[in-house]
Amino acid sequence: MSTVRSDALVFFGATGDLAYKKIFPALQEMIKRGNLDIPVIGVANAGWTVDQLRARAQDSLEKRGGLDPQALEKLSGLLRYGDGDYKDPATFQKLRRELKNAQRPTHYLAIPPILFETVLQQLIKSGCGNGARLVLEKPFGRDLASAQELNQVLLQAFKETDVYRIDHYLGKKPIHNMLVFRFANAFMEAFWNRNFIESIQITMAEDFGVQGRGAFYDQAGTIRDVMQNHVFQLLSNLCMEPPARTDSESIRDEKVKVLKAIPPLTAGDLVRGQFRGYVDEKGVATNSTVETFAAMRLEINSWRWKGVPIYIRSGKCLPLTCTEVFARFRKPPTVIQESALSSNHMRFRISPEIAIAIGTMVMGPSEQMTGQTVEMIASRQPRAEEMEAYERVLGDAIAGDATLFARQDYVEEAWRTVDPVPKQGSPLHHYEPNTWGPIELDQRLTPRGGWHNPRADGSEEFSLAAHG
Ligand code: BG6
Repeated sequence: MSTVRSDALVFFGATGDLAYKKIFPALQEMIKRGNLDIPVIGVANAGWTVDQLRARAQDSLEKRGGLDPQALEKLSGLLRYGDGDYKDPATFQKLRRELKNAQRPTHYLAIPPILFETVLQQLIKSGCGNGARLVLEKPFGRDLASAQELNQVLLQAFKETDVYRIDHYLGKKPIHNMLVFRFANAFMEAFWNRNFIESIQITMAEDFGVQGRGAFYDQAGTIRDVMQNHVFQLLSNLCMEPPARTDSESIRDEKVKVLKAIPPLTAGDLVRGQFRGYVDEKGVATNSTVETFAAMRLEINSWRWKGVPIYIRSGKCLPLTCTEVFARFRKPPTVIQESALSSNHMRFRISPEIAIAIGTMVMGPSEQMTGQTVEMIASRQPRAEEMEAYERVLGDAIAGDATLFARQDYVEEAWRTVDPVPKQGSPLHHYEPNTWGPIELDQRLTPRGGWHNPRADGSEEFSLAAHG
């Protein structure tokens, strides 16, 4: 793997939604930290000029990123723009000229996956791909077969070590924090396994709908948009074995092992939902059966986790925006009346705030032997201090560090797990916006002890303060 820094950043999809919301703010932050000093070439087919792209960057920073005039000036100086059809060789000849003497460009494909192959072929033919790194947005393919085909096309012209399959969730600090908490605390190892943990839940909830991305979303749905990638990455970090070394491949080897141990999903282990009103969104088919909510039960048949059900769910238009892991412990064989006991738990809150908490039982306020749960908060930080995920992953790609990117085998294993169900088809249930998904969820897929719904303020009903 080469850790030579890239000498140009090209981003396809420069006039699009992702660039506006995430890439310009990430570039500004990189400049502020002194981490971006190379030409940044936007490419799109919009009939724009470089001045229009600069104006778009400014607008994005004003609205999304907290504009810093000095950083914007620097970014404007670095920005260039190439306009043209991705199918037209002339677009890539222009890009070749714009790249000048760059030997190690990073090409970032922030475009719909359906266009990947076209752009790849043109990069290769025009010579723009020589010596290059490729960063590809998720979802990588639509299923196992298309991901394998795309990997094949890619790897004919590029080395795996030069391919960076992005999953910005891996750039989030709380996910690293979770790993540190697991592997830097001796006590964790004792109970982080099937002997103590009864079940694990992961919830990635969003209180908004498709936000004008209907056309994209209706081709994807929740499973392809966030579960096969973001939620699985979270799961792999949560359940992987300690890596033998800290290099990118040792870490990625352990993550793949988690996925290899998951049997393919069956229809009985999935509930799909769609919020009422989704089909009225712009770009969505009026008879769409695409899910905006999905919940799954998975198993990891490994030495550590066999027999521990893992429940994951994600959806749009839920009551709040929050990503949280909730692991429930088995109850102890105590003489205290079982009904008076709640299970211990471990809670990792990934967003919007960062928190790690352990739920324990103590004696309640009355004189009787009744227990009550209080949380010991190991860590709690407001989100504001976080380096934005896109800043971290783009910075790593430019620097040639692949640790936070999905490897070919990982992506294919993730598809293998979810692939059978969308193919066989599964019922779609409707739910009202601002609820926790379809009511069928509770009948069909409920962890023992029930779903744990995260709370909006991040303070739990269990917190010490709440009980004095
Ligand atoms: C994107 C999905 O990858 O991740 C979106 O396409 C989702 O649908 C988003 O809203 C969530 O990421 P974050 O970092 O904004 O929580």
